[in-house]
Amino acid sequence: MAISSPLPLFVLGSGTDPDTERGVECPGELPPASDPQLVERARRAKEALGERVFILGHHYQRDEVIQFADVTGDSFKLAKDAAARPEAEYIVFCGVHFMAESADILTGPEQRVILPDLAAGCSMADMARLAQVEDCWDALADAGVAEVTVPVTYMNSSADIKAFCGRNGGVVCTSSNAKRVLEWAYERGEKVLFLPDQHLGRNTAVLQLGLELGDCVVYDPRQPNGGLTTEQLRDAKMILWKGHCSVHGRFTADAVDEVRVRVPGVKVLVHPECQHEVVLKADLIGSTEFIIATVREAEPGSKWAIGTELNLVQRLAQEHPEQEITFLERNVCYCATMNRIDLPHLVQSLENLVEGRVLNQIQVDPDTERDAKLGLQRMLDLPGDTARD
Ligand code: 13P
Ligand code: SF4
Repeated sequence: MAISSPLPLFVLGSGTDPDTERGVECPGELPPASDPQLVERARRAKEALGERVFILGHHYQRDEVIQFADVTGDSFKLAKDAAARPEAEYIVFCGVHFMAESADILTGPEQRVILPDLAAGCSMADMARLAQVEDCWDALADAGVAEVTVPVTYMNSSADIKAFCGRNGGVVCTSSNAKRVLEWAYERGEKVLFLPDQHLGRNTAVLQLGLELGDCVVYDPRQPNGGLTTEQLRDAKMILWKGHCSVHGRFTADAVDEVRVRVPGVKVLVHPECQHEVVLKADLIGSTEFIIATVREAEPGSKWAIGTELNLVQRLAQEHPEQEITFLERNVCYCATMNRIDLPHLVQSLENLVEGRVLNQIQVDPDTERDAKLGLQRMLDLPGDTARD
Protein backbone atom coordinates (compact mmCIF):
# COMPACT_ATOMS: atom_id res chain seq x y z
CA MET A 1 0.00 0.00 0.00
CA ALA A 2 1.27 3.46 -0.82
CA ILE A 3 2.13 5.95 1.87
CA SER A 4 -1.14 7.40 3.08
CA SER A 5 -0.15 10.95 3.98
CA PRO A 6 0.25 13.59 1.25
CA LEU A 7 3.80 14.65 0.48
CA PRO A 8 4.92 17.94 1.98
CA LEU A 9 5.06 20.86 -0.39
CA PHE A 10 8.52 22.09 0.52
CA VAL A 11 11.87 20.82 1.63
CA LEU A 12 12.94 21.81 5.09
CA GLY A 13 15.92 24.15 5.27
CA SER A 14 18.72 22.61 7.22
CA GLY A 15 20.81 25.39 8.71
CA THR A 16 23.93 27.09 7.51
CA ASP A 17 25.25 26.46 4.05
CA PRO A 18 28.53 24.61 4.43
CA ASP A 19 29.36 25.58 0.84
CA THR A 20 29.64 29.21 1.83
CA GLU A 21 31.16 28.48 5.24
CA ARG A 22 33.89 26.24 3.99
CA GLY A 23 34.53 28.34 0.89
CA VAL A 24 34.06 25.35 -1.36
CA GLU A 25 33.90 25.63 -5.12
CA CYS A 26 32.38 22.90 -7.23
CA PRO A 27 35.21 21.33 -9.23
CA GLY A 28 34.19 19.99 -12.63
CA GLU A 29 30.87 19.89 -14.37
CA LEU A 30 27.82 18.37 -12.78
CA PRO A 31 25.69 16.23 -15.14
CA PRO A 32 22.20 17.74 -15.38
CA ALA A 33 19.52 16.08 -13.23
CA SER A 34 17.35 15.41 -16.27
CA ASP A 35 20.07 13.41 -18.04
CA PRO A 36 18.35 10.08 -18.87
CA GLN A 37 21.75 8.40 -19.13
CA LEU A 38 22.65 9.00 -15.49
CA VAL A 39 21.68 5.56 -14.21
CA GLU A 40 23.69 3.87 -16.95
CA ARG A 41 26.67 6.21 -16.39
CA ALA A 42 26.67 5.47 -12.65
CA ARG A 43 26.48 1.74 -13.33
CA ARG A 44 29.34 1.85 -15.82
CA ALA A 45 31.59 3.97 -13.61
CA LYS A 46 30.96 1.74 -10.61
CA GLU A 47 31.71 -1.35 -12.68
CA ALA A 48 34.94 0.18 -13.98
CA LEU A 49 36.09 0.90 -10.43
CA GLY A 50 35.17 -2.58 -9.18
CA GLU A 51 36.52 -3.47 -5.74
CA ARG A 52 38.45 -0.19 -5.57
CA VAL A 53 35.28 1.67 -4.59
CA PHE A 54 32.88 1.02 -1.71
CA ILE A 55 29.65 3.02 -1.63
CA LEU A 56 27.87 3.57 1.68
CA GLY A 57 24.29 4.88 1.80
CA HIS A 58 22.49 6.23 4.86
CA HIS A 59 18.81 5.28 5.09
CA TYR A 60 17.76 8.91 4.52
CA GLN A 61 19.28 9.02 1.06
CA ARG A 62 17.20 9.26 -2.10
CA ASP A 63 16.23 6.04 -3.91
CA GLU A 64 18.19 7.15 -6.99
CA VAL A 65 21.35 7.06 -4.85
CA ILE A 66 20.52 4.10 -2.60
CA GLN A 67 20.26 1.82 -5.65
CA PHE A 68 24.05 2.13 -6.08
CA ALA A 69 25.01 1.64 -2.41
CA ASP A 70 27.02 -1.48 -1.56
CA VAL A 71 25.66 -1.24 1.97
CA THR A 72 22.93 0.82 3.59
CA GLY A 73 22.56 1.53 7.28
CA ASP A 74 22.13 3.90 10.17
CA SER A 75 25.08 5.93 11.43
CA PHE A 76 26.30 3.13 13.70
CA LYS A 77 26.19 0.39 11.09
CA LEU A 78 27.82 2.58 8.43
CA ALA A 79 30.68 3.52 10.78
CA LYS A 80 31.37 -0.17 11.35
CA ASP A 81 30.97 -1.01 7.66
CA ALA A 82 33.44 1.71 6.64
CA ALA A 83 36.01 0.42 9.15
CA ALA A 84 35.59 -3.14 7.86
CA ARG A 85 36.64 -2.46 4.24
CA PRO A 86 40.42 -1.82 4.37
CA GLU A 87 40.87 -3.08 0.80
CA ALA A 88 38.69 -0.35 -0.76
CA GLU A 89 40.77 2.52 -2.11
CA TYR A 90 37.79 4.88 -2.26
CA ILE A 91 34.90 5.12 0.19
CA VAL A 92 32.07 7.13 -1.37
CA PHE A 93 29.83 8.23 1.50
CA CYS A 94 26.25 8.97 0.51
CA GLY A 95 25.22 10.67 3.73
CA VAL A 96 26.25 13.89 5.44
CA HIS A 97 29.55 15.55 6.36
CA PHE A 98 29.90 14.23 9.94
CA MET A 99 29.41 10.65 8.69
CA ALA A 100 32.12 11.03 6.06
CA GLU A 101 34.45 12.50 8.71
CA SER A 102 33.83 9.49 10.95
CA ALA A 103 34.52 7.16 8.02
CA ASP A 104 37.81 8.98 7.36
CA ILE A 105 38.78 8.60 11.02
CA LEU A 106 37.97 4.88 11.04
CA THR A 107 39.60 3.96 7.72
CA GLY A 108 43.29 3.57 6.86
CA PRO A 109 45.52 6.51 5.85
CA GLU A 110 45.73 5.30 2.26
CA GLN A 111 41.94 5.11 1.86
CA ARG A 112 40.16 8.20 0.56
CA VAL A 113 36.68 9.16 1.73
CA ILE A 114 34.51 11.14 -0.68
CA LEU A 115 31.32 13.09 0.05
CA PRO A 116 29.65 13.57 -3.36
CA ASP A 117 28.35 17.06 -2.42
CA LEU A 118 30.28 19.06 0.18
CA ALA A 119 27.11 21.04 0.93
CA ALA A 120 25.63 17.95 2.61
CA GLY A 121 26.13 19.15 6.19
CA CYS A 122 23.88 18.75 9.21
CA SER A 123 22.18 21.60 11.04
CA MET A 124 22.31 19.68 14.34
CA ALA A 125 26.07 19.12 14.07
CA ASP A 126 26.47 22.85 13.34
CA MET A 127 24.77 23.67 16.68
CA ALA A 128 27.84 22.69 18.70
CA ARG A 129 31.09 24.50 17.88
CA LEU A 130 34.35 23.57 19.58
CA ALA A 131 34.87 27.04 21.14
CA GLN A 132 31.36 26.90 22.64
CA VAL A 133 31.94 23.43 24.06
CA GLU A 134 35.24 24.53 25.57
CA ASP A 135 33.45 27.49 27.21
CA CYS A 136 30.91 25.05 28.62
CA TRP A 137 33.69 22.84 29.98
CA ASP A 138 35.24 25.94 31.64
CA ALA A 139 31.84 26.69 33.24
CA LEU A 140 31.73 23.11 34.56
CA ALA A 141 35.29 23.48 35.89
CA ASP A 142 34.35 26.77 37.62
CA ALA A 143 31.40 24.97 39.22
CA GLY A 144 33.85 22.27 40.38
CA VAL A 145 32.18 19.46 38.43
CA ALA A 146 34.23 19.02 35.23
CA GLU A 147 36.25 16.24 36.87
CA VAL A 148 33.14 14.15 37.57
CA THR A 149 31.54 14.83 34.19
CA VAL A 150 31.90 12.50 31.19
CA PRO A 151 31.35 14.22 27.81
CA VAL A 152 29.27 12.13 25.40
CA THR A 153 28.67 13.27 21.87
CA TYR A 154 26.12 11.95 19.43
CA MET A 155 27.65 10.76 16.17
CA ASN A 156 25.88 13.76 14.60
CA SER A 157 28.66 16.18 15.54
CA SER A 158 31.81 17.47 13.90
CA ALA A 159 35.12 15.62 14.24
CA ASP A 160 36.53 18.29 16.58
CA ILE A 161 33.64 17.75 19.04
CA LYS A 162 34.30 14.00 18.92
CA ALA A 163 37.98 14.78 19.53
CA PHE A 164 37.06 16.98 22.53
CA CYS A 165 35.16 14.04 24.02
CA GLY A 166 37.94 11.60 23.22
CA ARG A 167 40.66 13.62 24.97
CA ASN A 168 38.44 14.34 27.99
CA GLY A 169 37.67 10.70 28.81
CA GLY A 170 34.43 10.73 26.86
CA VAL A 171 32.83 8.77 24.09
CA VAL A 172 30.66 8.91 20.96
CA CYS A 173 27.20 7.36 20.73
CA THR A 174 24.59 6.81 18.05
CA SER A 175 20.84 6.45 18.31
CA SER A 176 21.39 2.66 18.20
CA ASN A 177 23.54 2.47 21.29
CA ALA A 178 22.88 5.60 23.38
CA LYS A 179 21.65 3.58 26.38
CA ARG A 180 24.72 1.35 26.45
CA VAL A 181 27.05 4.32 26.01
CA LEU A 182 25.38 6.31 28.80
CA GLU A 183 25.65 3.33 31.14
CA TRP A 184 29.36 3.22 30.31
CA ALA A 185 29.63 6.96 31.04
CA TYR A 186 27.81 6.78 34.41
CA GLU A 187 30.18 3.98 35.47
CA ARG A 188 32.98 6.50 35.06
CA GLY A 189 31.47 9.76 36.26
CA GLU A 190 28.61 11.28 38.22
CA LYS A 191 27.38 13.49 35.39
CA VAL A 192 27.17 13.48 31.62
CA LEU A 193 27.51 16.43 29.26
CA PHE A 194 25.46 15.27 26.26
CA LEU A 195 26.18 16.91 22.87
CA PRO A 196 24.57 18.17 20.66
CA ASP A 197 21.05 16.64 20.59
CA GLN A 198 19.11 17.47 23.73
CA HIS A 199 16.25 15.18 22.67
CA LEU A 200 18.27 11.98 22.23
CA GLY A 201 20.02 12.75 25.53
CA ARG A 202 16.82 13.41 27.45
CA ASN A 203 14.86 10.53 25.92
CA THR A 204 17.62 8.04 26.66
CA ALA A 205 18.31 9.30 30.18
CA VAL A 206 14.68 9.39 31.26
CA LEU A 207 13.09 6.53 29.33
CA GLN A 208 15.96 4.05 29.25
CA LEU A 209 18.10 4.86 32.29
CA GLY A 210 15.33 5.90 34.68
CA LEU A 211 16.59 9.41 35.44
CA GLU A 212 14.01 12.06 36.37
CA LEU A 213 13.33 15.01 34.10
CA GLY A 214 14.47 17.14 37.05
CA ASP A 215 17.92 15.49 36.84
CA CYS A 216 18.39 17.09 33.41
CA VAL A 217 19.29 20.71 32.64
CA VAL A 218 19.67 22.35 29.23
CA TYR A 219 22.89 24.27 28.57
CA ASP A 220 22.29 27.08 26.07
CA PRO A 221 25.61 28.04 24.43
CA ARG A 222 24.21 31.46 23.53
CA GLN A 223 23.80 32.46 27.17
CA PRO A 224 26.43 33.24 29.80
CA ASN A 225 27.15 30.09 31.82
CA GLY A 226 24.71 28.30 29.51
CA GLY A 227 21.84 30.15 31.22
CA LEU A 228 22.37 28.00 34.33
CA THR A 229 23.37 28.76 37.91
CA THR A 230 26.33 27.06 39.56
CA GLU A 231 23.85 25.15 41.76
CA GLN A 232 21.99 23.86 38.71
CA LEU A 233 25.24 22.63 37.17
CA ARG A 234 26.23 20.98 40.46
CA ASP A 235 22.84 19.30 41.00
CA ALA A 236 22.24 18.01 37.45
CA LYS A 237 23.05 14.44 36.48
CA MET A 238 22.53 15.13 32.79
CA ILE A 239 23.65 18.40 31.16
CA LEU A 240 21.97 18.54 27.76
CA TRP A 241 23.37 20.74 25.01
CA LYS A 242 20.71 22.94 23.45
CA GLY A 243 20.74 21.36 20.00
CA HIS A 244 18.16 19.50 17.95
CA CYS A 245 17.46 17.97 14.56
CA SER A 246 15.58 20.38 12.30
CA VAL A 247 13.67 17.45 10.77
CA HIS A 248 12.77 15.27 13.78
CA GLY A 249 12.23 18.30 16.03
CA ARG A 250 9.17 19.17 13.96
CA PHE A 251 7.05 16.13 14.82
CA THR A 252 4.40 17.08 17.39
CA ALA A 253 2.46 15.31 20.12
CA ASP A 254 -0.75 16.55 18.43
CA ALA A 255 0.16 14.57 15.32
CA VAL A 256 0.33 11.39 17.43
CA ASP A 257 -3.15 12.09 18.87
CA GLU A 258 -4.50 12.91 15.43
CA VAL A 259 -3.18 9.75 13.73
CA ARG A 260 -4.58 7.54 16.49
CA VAL A 261 -8.04 8.95 15.69
CA ARG A 262 -7.53 8.81 11.92
CA VAL A 263 -6.06 5.26 11.83
CA PRO A 264 -7.60 3.08 14.55
CA GLY A 265 -5.16 0.43 15.79
CA VAL A 266 -2.11 2.30 14.48
CA LYS A 267 1.27 1.86 16.19
CA VAL A 268 3.40 4.99 16.37
CA LEU A 269 7.10 4.38 15.72
CA VAL A 270 9.48 7.34 16.09
CA HIS A 271 13.17 8.18 16.10
CA PRO A 272 14.66 9.27 19.47
CA GLU A 273 15.67 12.64 17.97
CA CYS A 274 11.97 13.57 18.33
CA GLN A 275 10.87 15.80 21.20
CA HIS A 276 10.25 14.13 24.57
CA GLU A 277 6.49 14.81 24.49
CA VAL A 278 6.25 13.03 21.11
CA VAL A 279 8.32 10.06 22.23
CA LEU A 280 6.22 9.74 25.40
CA LYS A 281 3.13 9.24 23.26
CA ALA A 282 4.74 6.81 20.81
CA ASP A 283 4.52 3.02 21.00
CA LEU A 284 8.08 2.31 19.89
CA ILE A 285 11.25 4.40 19.70
CA GLY A 286 14.47 3.60 17.89
CA SER A 287 17.15 4.37 15.34
CA THR A 288 16.52 4.06 11.63
CA GLU A 289 17.87 0.51 11.67
CA PHE A 290 15.44 -0.35 14.49
CA ILE A 291 12.53 1.24 12.61
CA ILE A 292 13.29 -0.83 9.51
CA ALA A 293 13.66 -4.08 11.47
CA THR A 294 10.42 -3.42 13.36
CA VAL A 295 8.40 -2.92 10.17
CA ARG A 296 10.08 -5.87 8.42
CA GLU A 297 9.27 -8.25 11.28
CA ALA A 298 5.71 -7.05 11.93
CA GLU A 299 2.60 -9.11 11.20
CA PRO A 300 1.22 -8.40 7.70
CA GLY A 301 -1.62 -5.89 7.90
CA SER A 302 -0.02 -3.93 10.76
CA LYS A 303 -0.65 -0.20 10.78
CA TRP A 304 2.26 2.16 11.38
CA ALA A 305 2.65 5.91 11.73
CA ILE A 306 6.36 6.60 11.41
CA GLY A 307 8.15 9.70 12.62
CA THR A 308 11.49 9.91 10.88
CA GLU A 309 12.91 11.26 7.62
CA LEU A 310 10.58 11.03 4.62
CA ASN A 311 12.89 9.26 2.13
CA LEU A 312 13.08 6.31 4.52
CA VAL A 313 9.35 6.26 5.30
CA GLN A 314 8.50 6.34 1.58
CA ARG A 315 10.93 3.50 0.87
CA LEU A 316 9.48 1.43 3.72
CA ALA A 317 5.98 1.97 2.33
CA GLN A 318 7.13 0.82 -1.13
CA GLU A 319 9.03 -2.20 0.18
CA HIS A 320 6.26 -3.32 2.51
CA PRO A 321 2.97 -3.24 0.59
CA GLU A 322 1.69 -5.81 3.13
CA GLN A 323 1.79 -3.10 5.85
CA GLU A 324 -0.19 0.11 6.12
CA ILE A 325 2.39 2.85 6.54
CA THR A 326 1.56 6.49 7.29
CA PHE A 327 3.97 9.39 7.63
CA LEU A 328 3.40 10.78 11.12
CA GLU A 329 3.10 14.47 10.31
CA ARG A 330 2.22 16.37 7.16
CA ASN A 331 4.40 19.38 7.94
CA VAL A 332 7.64 17.48 8.22
CA CYS A 333 9.82 17.11 5.16
CA TYR A 334 12.92 15.58 3.71
CA CYS A 335 16.25 16.39 5.29
CA ALA A 336 17.47 19.05 2.86
CA THR A 337 21.15 18.28 3.38
CA MET A 338 20.76 14.51 3.06
CA ASN A 339 18.93 15.23 -0.20
CA ARG A 340 21.92 17.18 -1.54
CA ILE A 341 23.44 13.86 -2.54
CA ASP A 342 21.66 13.13 -5.80
CA LEU A 343 22.47 11.06 -8.86
CA PRO A 344 24.31 13.87 -10.71
CA HIS A 345 26.67 14.30 -7.76
CA LEU A 346 27.21 10.55 -7.41
CA VAL A 347 27.92 10.19 -11.13
CA GLN A 348 30.31 13.12 -10.96
CA SER A 349 32.22 11.52 -8.08
CA LEU A 350 32.42 8.08 -9.69
CA GLU A 351 33.36 9.25 -13.19
CA ASN A 352 36.12 11.45 -11.79
CA LEU A 353 37.48 8.50 -9.81
CA VAL A 354 37.55 6.46 -13.02
CA GLU A 355 39.65 9.27 -14.52
CA GLY A 356 41.93 9.23 -11.46
CA ARG A 357 40.59 12.47 -9.96
CA VAL A 358 39.38 12.56 -6.35
CA LEU A 359 36.69 15.22 -5.89
CA ASN A 360 35.31 16.31 -2.53
CA GLN A 361 37.63 14.27 -0.35
CA ILE A 362 36.92 14.53 3.40
CA GLN A 363 40.12 14.60 5.41
CA VAL A 364 40.27 15.09 9.16
CA ASP A 365 43.55 16.59 10.41
CA PRO A 366 45.82 14.10 12.24
CA ASP A 367 45.49 15.58 15.78
CA THR A 368 41.72 15.74 15.59
CA GLU A 369 41.64 12.27 14.09
CA ARG A 370 43.75 10.80 16.91
CA ASP A 371 41.50 12.20 19.67
CA ALA A 372 38.21 11.59 17.86
CA LYS A 373 39.23 7.99 17.25
CA LEU A 374 39.54 7.48 21.02
CA GLY A 375 35.87 8.42 21.45
CA LEU A 376 34.71 6.41 18.45
CA GLN A 377 36.74 3.35 19.41
CA ARG A 378 35.38 3.41 22.98
CA MET A 379 31.92 3.21 21.42
CA LEU A 380 32.82 0.47 18.94
CA ASP A 381 34.49 -1.59 21.70
CA LEU A 382 31.30 -1.76 23.78
CA PRO A 383 29.56 -5.16 23.69
CA GLY A 384 26.37 -5.56 21.69
CA ASP A 385 25.93 -5.17 18.02
CA THR A 386 22.46 -4.56 16.76
CA ALA A 387 19.83 -1.87 16.83
CA ARG A 388 17.83 -3.96 19.30
CA ASP A 389 20.56 -4.38 21.95
P1 13P B 1 20.61 7.21 12.83
O1 13P B 1 21.33 6.93 11.57
O2 13P B 1 21.51 6.97 14.01
O3 13P B 1 19.30 6.55 12.98
O4 13P B 1 20.39 8.80 12.91
C1 13P B 1 19.49 9.46 12.15
C2 13P B 1 20.01 10.75 11.66
O5 13P B 1 19.48 11.78 11.90
C3 13P B 1 21.19 10.73 10.86
O6 13P B 1 21.46 12.01 10.45
FE1 SF4 C 1 21.13 16.31 10.66
FE2 SF4 C 1 18.56 15.80 11.26
FE3 SF4 C 1 19.36 15.80 8.70
FE4 SF4 C 1 20.13 13.83 10.38
S1 SF4 C 1 18.04 14.26 9.70
S2 SF4 C 1 21.43 14.95 8.90
S3 SF4 C 1 20.35 14.99 12.32
S4 SF4 C 1 19.37 17.58 10.09
